[in-house]
Formats: sequence, C-alpha cells, structure tokens
Amino acid sequence: MATTHEPAAGTLSALLQEDRRYPPSDAFKAQANWNDPAIYQRAEADPEAFWAEQAKAIDWFKPWDRVLDWNVPEAKWFVGAQVNASYNCVDRHIKSWRRNKAAIIFEGEPGDARVLTYRDLYREVNRCAAALKRLGVKKGDRVAIYLGMVPELAIAMLACARIGAPHTVIFAGFSADSISDRVNDCGASFAITADGGWRRGSKIPLKDTMDRAMESCPTIQKVLVVNRTDDARQVPMKEGRDVWWHRALEESGAEIVEPEALDAEHPLYILYTSGTTGKPKGMLHTTGGYLVGTACSHKYVFDLKEEDVFWCTADVGWVTGHSYIVYGPLANGAACVMYEGSPDYPDKDRFWSIVEKYGVTILYTAPTAIRTFMRWGKEYPAKHDLTSLRVLGTVGEPINPEAWVWYREVIGLDRCPVVDTWWMTETGQILITPLPGITVLKPGSATFPFPGVKADVLDENGKSVPLGSGGYLVLQRPWPAMARTIWGDPERYKTQYWTRFPGNYFAGDGAKRDDEGYFWLLGRVDDVLNVAGHRIGTMEVESALVSHPAVAEAAVIGISHEVKGQALAAFATLRGGFTGDPAMVETLRNHVGEKIGAIAKPDKIFFTSELPKTRSAKIMRRLLRDIAEGKVLGDTTTLADPTVLASIKQQYEESE
Ligand code: WTA
Repeated sequence: MATTHEPAAGTLSALLQEDRRYPPSDAFKAQANWNDPAIYQRAEADPEAFWAEQAKAIDWFKPWDRVLDWNVPEAKWFVGAQVNASYNCVDRHIKSWRRNKAAIIFEGEPGDARVLTYRDLYREVNRCAAALKRLGVKKGDRVAIYLGMVPELAIAMLACARIGAPHTVIFAGFSADSISDRVNDCGASFAITADGGWRRGSKIPLKDTMDRAMESCPTIQKVLVVNRTDDARQVPMKEGRDVWWHRALEESGAEIVEPEALDAEHPLYILYTSGTTGKPKGMLHTTGGYLVGTACSHKYVFDLKEEDVFWCTADVGWVTGHSYIVYGPLANGAACVMYEGSPDYPDKDRFWSIVEKYGVTILYTAPTAIRTFMRWGKEYPAKHDLTSLRVLGTVGEPINPEAWVWYREVIGLDRCPVVDTWWMTETGQILITPLPGITVLKPGSATFPFPGVKADVLDENGKSVPLGSGGYLVLQRPWPAMARTIWGDPERYKTQYWTRFPGNYFAGDGAKRDDEGYFWLLGRVDDVLNVAGHRIGTMEVESALVSHPAVAEAAVIGISHEVKGQALAAFATLRGGFTGDPAMVETLRNHVGEKIGAIAKPDKIFFTSELPKTRSAKIMRRLLRDIAEGKVLGDTTTLADPTVLASIKQQYEESE
C-alpha cells in the first residue's frame, strides 16, 4: 500500500502571506465568454443540467437518454448517445467557413513550418484512417503511437478515433522497455512511429527505440513509419511489418472513411501515468463526456474566441497535449500552434519568436518552463513583440507566486490574466481554475473549482477542514471527462482513488483553502513525484535501479529543485564487489534512462551500506526526505539500526 505523507507545511505559510490581487480588467470582463459569477450558482443548483447544456456544443449522431449513471466509482455520461471525436474535431468544421481556417500551425524545430487548415486535416485524417483499415485495424483494436510533436501525431489520433480504435500515445522520451510495457499491458496490435524526431538540433532515433521495443511485443502486427528526418535510407524497414506512412497515405488517395457512430462510452484512448507502484496505470478515457469536458473547459478557462491563436506547449505524449492540443481545441474549431522542439533551440528566445511569428493570443505552459525563462533573463522575451497575447495559462505543478508574477509582467506585459489550472491525467479536463473574466486572481492559487465541479479538503479522518487549514484534496461529484477505469485493473482504480475517503475521488494532492476559500495546491502526498511537470513514481525508479546487477537495494525520494520544482535523489546499497564511485553514478543514471527514459534519471545518487529501515524491514523514506531537506530528523525510535542515518546524513551534507 502506498504511503501518504503530510502536505508540505513550509511552503504553505509562505503562500498564505501572498496578498497581491489581480481582478479582471473592465475591458477583459466586458468581452469574456463568462463574466457573470452566477454561472457558479447555476451549475451548482443542477450540475447534470449544466453539463447537458455544455454538451450542446458537441455534435451527437444520437442524443442521450440520461446525462449520467453514477454507481461509485463507475460513471457513464450521456448514456445511450452516439458520437465520434474525429467527426467533432474535423468533419463538422469543414461544413462551415472554418474549412479554410488554420487547424494546426506546425513549427518544426529546424525552422520548417506547415499549416494545415481544417480541410487539410480532414483529408489527412481520412487518408490515415483508410490506411489503418487496409492494414487491418478494426474498431476496438488498440493502436500505440510513438511520435514526436509533428502533425502526423494529431492526424493519427484522430484517424484512430474515427474508426473507434483506442490509441495509446507513448511520450517520445520513453525508452524501449517503457514502450513494450505499455504495448503489452493494453495488447496493442498496431503501432505508429517515425524514423526520428528533432530535439535540440539532433535527431532522436525513434524507430531504433521502437524496433528494440518490438522485440518483446508479440501482439504488434504492423508498424506505420512517418518520414520526419529524411533518414529514409538509414532506417531498416522490417519486411511484412513496417510500412512507410507516406506510401500508405498515397495509396489511400482521396478515400473518405465515414466516422463510426460510437457509443458515448466507447474507449477513446488509454494513457499511462505513474502511480505509487512500479507499474504505470493505463487510464482509460471514453468519448462523449471527454469531448464535452475538454471542449467546454477549453472555451471558458482560456476565454477562447474564433480569432484566437492558441498555443499549448505541452507534449501530446502527456494528457495536457491530448486534452488541450488535440481534442478540446480542435472540437472548438480553434487555430492551434504545435511546436516540435526545445525552447532553447537555436536560441533561448524560440518560444517568443513563435509567439511573434504566429501572433499567438493564448499561451498555456508549465511552471518549470516559466522558471527556466526567468533564469535565462528578460532579454529573450524583450527581443520580440508579445502584444498579441491576451490570456496566459499554467499547468502541471504548483506555481510559486514569484514565477506567476514574472509570467504576468514579463510575458503578459502586466495586462493578461494568468490562469493556474489544476487537473490530472485521471481527471481528463481542468477542474480547479480561475475563469479569467470573473475571478480575482491571487498569484500561486488555482483559485476555485470549475462550475459544476465539487472539491473539498479533508483531514486524515475524512472530515472537511475549516478554511485556513490544509489536508487532502478530494472531488465529491463525477465530471464528464473523468477516467472511467484503469485498463485491465478496475480493482486498482477503485482502491487507488475511491476507497481512502469513500464516495470521494482522492487526488493524491495536498491542498489548503485560505479564509476566502481559494484553493492552494501543495504538491503530491504520495510516492509520486512531479519533476519538471512530469509525473514519476518513486517505485518505478527504484525498480529500475534494483534491476541493475550492482544494486542490492534502493530508495528514491523527491528533493526540492529551484527550476524543476522537484528532482530525484536515490539512495542505493551496492552488492559486494561493486564500488560506489562517480563512474557507478553514471552507470546507474544511464541504466534508469534505458529502463524508463531520460526524464527519470536521478539528479543525485548516494551509496550507503544500508538503508534506514523499520524493524519490519520497511524502508523509511520519510527519514531520507528529512535528511534531504536538512530538517531535524523525525522520530527514529522505530529504526532497526539508528547509526545508519548518521552516515547517510554525513554523505548527503558532504555532497551539498
Ligand atoms: C500536479 C497534468 C499544482 C498535481 C495535467 C497533480 C498541479 C499532477 C497543477 C497531475 C497545478 C497539475 N497546481 N499542481 N495547477 N496541475 N498538478 O497527471 O500534483 O501529469 O496530481 O496531469 O500534477 O499530473 P498529470
């Protein structure tokens, strides 16, 4: 069972001293999609009616019989309705003037650019869907997608959605082992990848990694391969398995594949995320409710207008890209920027040059990125005209007030509202967030639950804490884009999220409400870390470490990091005959890179002759965290051997 620890207390008091307030300007308020706070009461009075109202923004092939069937923890939204996500994101827009509106404005890292109008997107999605069908993909088959940030990624997802084949997108930074774990867990029978992708001026060999993964993926029948880096001749194609994307789509010609009329609860995708065990969880999202939740939140949280140019800088390999690069924005017929590469290539002003080049009006990024930009200096944004921007958003981790204010002043030129949006892979849609035309903002606070969403902060015993105190964040009512289960493991879904506080969704985040009821998110309270906005389970990294022959035992904890929010520190005990020297640190870091991916490489590795354990042999991570945070050690009386700590502490301090 996962351990939970108290929400961090230090950050808490610092946050509550924050007394700056940013009300919406009169001009912003006047034009906002929602500017009347009565929306909260209206939604609260009848949440199902509220969501049914929002559902009108989606085109349904068949209307629903009931808005919601709720038997904790099983939710069915828009029961009996038929719908198709690809139809909503593409087909319906080509029936209006939007057919020639930009859907995807793609900027490649090397500087190449491509604009796909909704009509272009329609053609490509159809051609891809036709190719998938010819290769044998059927409704219900799982398709694994391992691509960098190129338009083909969105096209492939929409093509899968069109024929009712759930996709599982695997972040392009994941290793071969991570790919095969995911493919095998969901039994995917088809895969889509590219010869490579561009990152910081280099080619990332996606196909090589995919080929290594495929050695242990017996279910995969065909692999479609996008030619992104023109490495066509160097990439070996496996006879009978690998097919070039461009050839397959050429063969499709102008074929149109009618979108399947799918049940509202038909699986749209599976997305793996880290939990408190060594095994990632395949969160299952379904179609109708997900479209309603993402389209509605996208429209009102970002105050989307027809003329906006929306740029979410996340990777589509994570949920933020699924919900706010692909499904939400495209369902809304928005013009979306998609950038392939790194923010510092060729120089540290790349983001700002993209904002200027395309006249981006809404920017959605992560606190880690903002802190990185702060460190690089104001001179980079100052080189560019950022006056097109009108709304700024952040997601993925708590944002410190200093970074929030910098974002508003330096990027938003002190006039754009900043929306700090809290949500998770599991929630599918933004749940705690300001509404920019209504909310008086406080830097560092995600403010209030979205209309129709009910959240609370509970103590250990499940009692709601009074305003001004902290505890565990829970959601007390279902919402349309919520994950329906963990693929293949409904029991884990139930115990993980719905049993700690029966009837409540347990988010795993600490939170506090101030005396005005604003929510302040305080980070994870379980063994999940948030490193540069990426979710990583300590157990995953520990199992990667112990899979190396030199390691007998390992414990991984999160340490605070100025830019990344959190970083990973590992404590390892080596087997006899191995030495804990700098070469071993590198070996183990690389080993974790091979096992999971570069994002999971620990920043620091310490070697200890023993780990602090209870008499029942449980590793006491809490004590390791105390050492790392320089705190006076907590209760050590339950330790089997108290001297172990002194030696670890000394080593840690020497390394600082
Ligand atoms: C954290 C990303 C504070 C939180 C959409 C959550 C945040 C985890 C915020 C989910 C925020 C996300 N303020 N913390 N605005 N947004 N988080 O699944 O700890 O990658 O549990 O989804 O990120 O991460 P995930």
